[in-house]
Amino acid sequence: MKLSQWLKRPPSVQQGDDAASASNQAVSASNQESSPSDKWRFEMMKDYLHGHTSKEAAGWFESAGYTAADFYDYFPCFLGAGSIGRYLSLYECYKQTLGVAGHIAEVGVYRGAVSLLFTKLVLLYEPYSTTQVHGFDMYERAVPSTRGKGFSFVETYQRVKNLIDIQGLQANCLLHDVNAIDELPGFFEQAPHLQFKLVFLDAGDYDIVSSCLREFWPRLTTGGIIIFDQFNHEAAPGETRAVKEFLPPGTAIRTFPNGWMPNAYVVKT
Ligand SMILES: C[S@@+](CC[C@H](N)C(=O)[O-])C[C@H]1O[C@@H](n2cnc3c(N)ncnc32)[C@H](O)[C@@H]1O
Repeated sequence: MKLSQWLKRPPSVQQGDDAASASNQAVSASNQESSPSDKWRFEMMKDYLHGHTSKEAAGWFESAGYTAADFYDYFPCFLGAGSIGRYLSLYECYKQTLGVAGHIAEVGVYRGAVSLLFTKLVLLYEPYSTTQVHGFDMYERAVPSTRGKGFSFVETYQRVKNLIDIQGLQANCLLHDVNAIDELPGFFEQAPHLQFKLVFLDAGDYDIVSSCLREFWPRLTTGGIIIFDQFNHEAAPGETRAVKEFLPPGTAIRTFPNGWMPNAYVVKT
């Protein structure tokens, strides 16, 4: 049975019929616990169905003796389907922009997963291009936010910079300590030539999305794509408002077949 089908079965069935499966029962229990239906009324109610690695599963991975090397080499064993879908959605957008001139930006880098994903896609798909990935985050200056599921995103600039450098990617992935609400105009004054083919917005709600659309849209090449992490999502209602205010009426806002987060993108025409 597919993971998605298994997760959609009623909890009683999930617990009962899978012989082997202490670990499956742990996953099932955790999916019930993490169901946010008591707090959320709309999109978040479905969020847990997508299959993220549960705390119980993660605990079992550790107790079963898997090593860090196992995670590097066999990561699909451990990632939930939702997490894999996130990276596939981003990959699909990246692929659509091959051949479009411009760099790639991520606003809201956190640990660097998406900036480094894009960096490695550039290495694989356009190794001789000058395409660079620009990651924007205000790191230690950011007030820890409690968006979405109540996670708080705290990371240091230096740790992400070291992660990039240790892999020899310092010319491919550039990290900018910038407050996306009011420091982007100053940043672009210093680098007025910068043009983008792909921009991923994942830093916050109304103020950040409005400011990023103002600054990145004119710098997005025709054929380029801007990706929204939580459009039409109750976790960030201001994101929808900012997008609707900024984009001309009639702009096509598309989504992903495996759409969790990110869940929308616009191709500039
Ligand atoms: C949800 S996390 C980003 C997750 C990341 N995109 C990923 O996929 O792993 C949000 C990030 O936005 C950053 N952030 C919050 N407010 C910001 C602002 N005004 N300007 C720039 N970055 C900001 C936080 O420091 C945090 O690292």
